[in-house]
Amino acid sequence: MTDHSQAMTAKYRQDYRAPLYWIDSIDLDFQLQEPLTQVTAISRLRRNGEHKEPLVLDGEGLSLHSISVDGVPFTQYEQGESSLTLFNLPAECVLTVVTLLDPAANTALEGLYKSGDAYCTQCEAEGFRRITYYLDRPDILARYSTRISADKAKYPFLLSNGNKVASGELDGGRHFVQWQDPFPKPSYLFALVAGDFDVEHSSYRTKSGREVALEIFVDRGNLDRAGFAMESLIKSMRWDEQRFGLEYDLDIYMIVAVDFFNMGAMENKGLNIFNSKFVLANPATATDGDYHGIERVIAHEYFHNWTGNRVTCRDWFQLSLKEGLTVFRDQEFSSDLGSRGVNRINNVRTVRGPQFAEDAGPMAHPIRPDVVIEMNNFYTLTVYEKGSEVIRMLHTLLGEANFQAGMKLYFERHDGSAATCDDFVQAMEDASGVDLGRFRRWYSQSGTPELTVSDEYDAATGIYRLHVRQHTPPTQDQPQKLPLHIPLDIELYDENGAVIPLQYQGQAIGQVLDVLEAEQTFVFDRVPVKPVISLLRDFSAPVKLHYEYSDEALAFLMRFARNEFARWDAAQMLINKAVIAGVARVQQGLDIELSATLLAAFVAILDEAELDPALKAEILALPGEATLAELFDCADIDAIHQVRSAIQDALAEAFGPRLAATYQSLRLTGYRVIHEDVAKRALKGVVLGYLAALDPAQADALVREQYAAADNMTDTLAALQVANGYLLPCRAELLADFEGKWAHDGLVLDNWLRLVGSKPAADVLVEVKQAMAHPTFSIRNPNRLRALVGSFAMNNQVQFHAKDGSGYRFLTDLLIELNEVNPQVASRLITPLIQFKRLDEQRKALIRAELTRLAKLDGLARDLFEKVSKALAQ
Ligand code: TRP
Ligand code: ZN
Repeated sequence: MTDHSQAMTAKYRQDYRAPLYWIDSIDLDFQLQEPLTQVTAISRLRRNGEHKEPLVLDGEGLSLHSISVDGVPFTQYEQGESSLTLFNLPAECVLTVVTLLDPAANTALEGLYKSGDAYCTQCEAEGFRRITYYLDRPDILARYSTRISADKAKYPFLLSNGNKVASGELDGGRHFVQWQDPFPKPSYLFALVAGDFDVEHSSYRTKSGREVALEIFVDRGNLDRAGFAMESLIKSMRWDEQRFGLEYDLDIYMIVAVDFFNMGAMENKGLNIFNSKFVLANPATATDGDYHGIERVIAHEYFHNWTGNRVTCRDWFQLSLKEGLTVFRDQEFSSDLGSRGVNRINNVRTVRGPQFAEDAGPMAHPIRPDVVIEMNNFYTLTVYEKGSEVIRMLHTLLGEANFQAGMKLYFERHDGSAATCDDFVQAMEDASGVDLGRFRRWYSQSGTPELTVSDEYDAATGIYRLHVRQHTPPTQDQPQKLPLHIPLDIELYDENGAVIPLQYQGQAIGQVLDVLEAEQTFVFDRVPVKPVISLLRDFSAPVKLHYEYSDEALAFLMRFARNEFARWDAAQMLINKAVIAGVARVQQGLDIELSATLLAAFVAILDEAELDPALKAEILALPGEATLAELFDCADIDAIHQVRSAIQDALAEAFGPRLAATYQSLRLTGYRVIHEDVAKRALKGVVLGYLAALDPAQADALVREQYAAADNMTDTLAALQVANGYLLPCRAELLADFEGKWAHDGLVLDNWLRLVGSKPAADVLVEVKQAMAHPTFSIRNPNRLRALVGSFAMNNQVQFHAKDGSGYRFLTDLLIELNEVNPQVASRLITPLIQFKRLDEQRKALIRAELTRLAKLDGLARDLFEKVSKALAQ
């Protein structure tokens, strides 16, 4: 049930005030029972300074049972829509609040709710206020003790944060467990789980010799899918000791996998709660991509124990303090353990695609937002992914040693407290001595900066000049922009691909240039020949780059750039150029022409014997249509699709017989999740796609064969994706077979739902609606919904943007239903409807009509209200 009377008022970062009261400790008692759960919260309050202000507690959707102060029933209070105001409290007192909850009716999946048969909680960002009245803000750090009682047969495991300190039997088949968390924490890190599980056990000995019990709780019958998550946890613990010198601090670390979860996972102190999609895996059920996702998310939540929990955020505007930094840490973990190049490529794909789109849309905000209506709307690509890029730039500017010194100082200053983004940058500046004055603007300025670069070479003097202009176009939230401190990593090559050292007047120049001004020129001498420049190496800043590369220069970089990322990036630029030119030709009714240079460069990649197949796969896989749309001010959806397909066909033809030969050479026996094999499977999938473009009949046979012979989910799905993406004759048969095999396993069935949602055909909505009637589908389950509807709305550009408006109408109808069921998930699915700036007028009008329909909805949740009203203000 949704509370329809939530205030739509905005909160401003500037309005932060220290709390009027502190809460030093809270003792919670949960009596889990049907239908209503009773929660008793006993808080020790302390007035902050001398004042007569009342205490205003947060609370949402609560049924208040009783209040007492120092053991005496208390009546001097006022209950508001989402608050409880207490008057005339003594300077110090013990407040007892008893509330009643109905977890089974909680479909929003915030606060205390039921996932299947288990009780669980989600308190970030503001879910604790759905459990009890409290100062639900992250600068209130309290010691928690939690007593849980429940029916013993149904709920044999009763879990909360910290250490188990007592347990015992109760009357009526009930039992209880008492937990104590020695680390003061904000309410958003509180967690409770009660249910029946299978448990994967292990242990870890920290570098200082502490023995930590590791426990992963999964639904009964799923123990054979928990091993990889456990290995990932142990690797994360070891890596954080080795690279950051950070050790775990409790005697137990628990992870619980649940099927109903709004996001990926949650870092609650000592008791992570995970979307089961980021825990469960075995070769029959999970793809290589799923394994990678598990390793990454397990690491991310573990790393939060220091960056998020030990040092938390003063207020929610500081969210990137923990999220940007923790994403940076998990990216470094993945890169140290696997392929740095492939990881960088995929992280950059996310920034350049969806994050740049966010900057260009109505929700544009700095990584540290200034104004928020619904905090759940700010768990964004900007806060997470761009936030991580900002940390990465600091790392680039300071170097590893200074960066680690900054981390150390940050923990010395702020361990056990709630900090700000400024505190973090200050520690980095103080520890390194690097001036970060202008760099701080990355925290306050939104939007995607654009770098326009040109160069001149004087053969007579050997002088090479690089002119760099920076400009950030206005965003919906911020019309004025200032110059930023942009690290620009470059390298120069001579005609043979040898590196030309950077120098000026006998001084070596580092390859990371400090771009600080709106316009700046960098001069190098002793440059013996006109160089080819590799710019923005490793995506050294989250910016758009403009430089007039010739096809020849890009083909050269694809071959000679010393760094895997730079080679991939050159290939991307080459494709982008071809797409821009191709769309212009299609719009003039002309055929698409591809340069021989482009075709030869891609053939050379496929032919390069020494190249990591994983990198080959990344280079050969063309950018998606949504990413390509970002290249245009007005994106012609149908022309982009047509041009992308034509490029694929032309490349397939250029590859010719190499495709079948390569495909055969990549066959593997047995399944191992190691880079070498993952790389081969990835390339095999890409090659199979090109084969389908070249020769559908041959591909149909190969796809059937691969599907039938596959001993792992990666190969199975690669076959299905090609069958689906190219509408091969085997499509219907194989999809039906897959659905039949996995009908009862939601996580695996999600793959089928994604295939259905991304069917590249006009009747896709017929199949989507049929899939919604599947017994395993439920709009209450965010994973099912995102798989089916998310793939349609975000991965099926041509059909979602159908000119008759059917895609927009379908999504809007669903959002109206979801507004009641789960506003947080609705607010994520609405993204493609609010990012319409680049569409033509006809489509814009259709979308506006649907958004207007939403805006008029009775009881529109705050989450959707914020986005719909911003979108309509465009
Ligand atoms: N803090 C979590 C993470 O980044 C994400 C998170 C925020 C979350 N809000 C949530 C998870 C709500 C689930 C539900 O790891
Ligand atoms: Zn996080």
